[in-house]
Amino acid sequence: MNFKKKRVLVTGGAGYIGAHVCQSLQPTQCDVAIIDNLSTGFESNIQNGELHPIDLNEWDSINQFIAEYKPDAVIHFAGSIVVPESVKNPLKYYQNNTANTLNLIRSCISNNVKNFLFSSTAAVYGIPDTGICTESDHLKPINPYGRSKLMTEMMLEDIASSSNLNYVALRYFNVAGAHESKQMGQRMPDATHLIKIIAQVLTKKRKEMAIFGFDYPTPDGTCIRDYIHVCDLAHAHVLALNYLLDGGKSAVFNCGYSKGFSVQEVVNAAKKQFGDFNILHGERRDGDPPQLIANADQIKAILGWQPKYNNLDLIIQSAVEFEKTI
Ligand code: UFG
Repeated sequence: MNFKKKRVLVTGGAGYIGAHVCQSLQPTQCDVAIIDNLSTGFESNIQNGELHPIDLNEWDSINQFIAEYKPDAVIHFAGSIVVPESVKNPLKYYQNNTANTLNLIRSCISNNVKNFLFSSTAAVYGIPDTGICTESDHLKPINPYGRSKLMTEMMLEDIASSSNLNYVALRYFNVAGAHESKQMGQRMPDATHLIKIIAQVLTKKRKEMAIFGFDYPTPDGTCIRDYIHVCDLAHAHVLALNYLLDGGKSAVFNCGYSKGFSVQEVVNAAKKQFGDFNILHGERRDGDPPQLIANADQIKAILGWQPKYNNLDLIIQSAVEFEKTI
């Protein structure tokens, strides 16, 4: 595929994952336009692409932008991503993740945009029977965040089957780490994600952290997640975009390493690498499933995705290295 002449619109391209994906698109030489309201994104994250500070709520501005830019593909990251916040403030999630995406898709349809790459989440699975998630599993999200994303997947499926739109939904497992350039990363100081919080403790920005729940049905009682390096995830987007631009049919893929680590194991790995730090015993956090691990056979078979950074120590180290720079 010759990306060179293609125009790609990236919503949320100033955010953590969006900025890594824009950077990964640099060698393809496609034209990248970024829409981001900078509510959780940072201009300093952007290494590739021109920023247009538009809010996805502003239907007229979005629609006008898409009509003029005429993207060959839209990659849609913009949204809210914090599970416990979604439990406390579901309206925000249905607005930012579901309603705003419906507007974006509507604009894509009216402007004949044919390719849509969507950031979905492992949270759509809820509590999988075996703890291993396969794309064809029954989807029963247990928090508003997961439901807000699942609704978007359902909208995309219905709209794609009645229009020219093809889409790929990538279901991210637990994304962490940073690019070795240290120019892009998780910059939000009030982070909630485990490896980010560990990086803040290790760089003395936080005194201590808590593990939320020791009574889950897992070997050490703490929740198990499949941590994926953001650069492997970014590469998955380049492959998915290529697949769509080559005429691939609509599809959903898990993005994870198929290997789970408990919260305690992640903490132990960080301590082994960087030294001891204080851990509190917290209560369970609302909306947390005990275990989420990806079956990633589909993305490997269909997109030819091969992870390069599947090493927990490396993921933690890159997160800490980035944290030192901000
Ligand atoms: N955790 C702690 N202490 C902390 C922070 C997190 O014990 O200070 C625990 C959580 O309770 C959970 C695990 O670490 O058991 C991972 O929590 P994160 O907040 O890092 O991530 P989540 O699993 O809640 O959610 C993330 C993304 C979602 C995605 C999900 C998929 O935010 O978008 O991974 O697994 F859906």
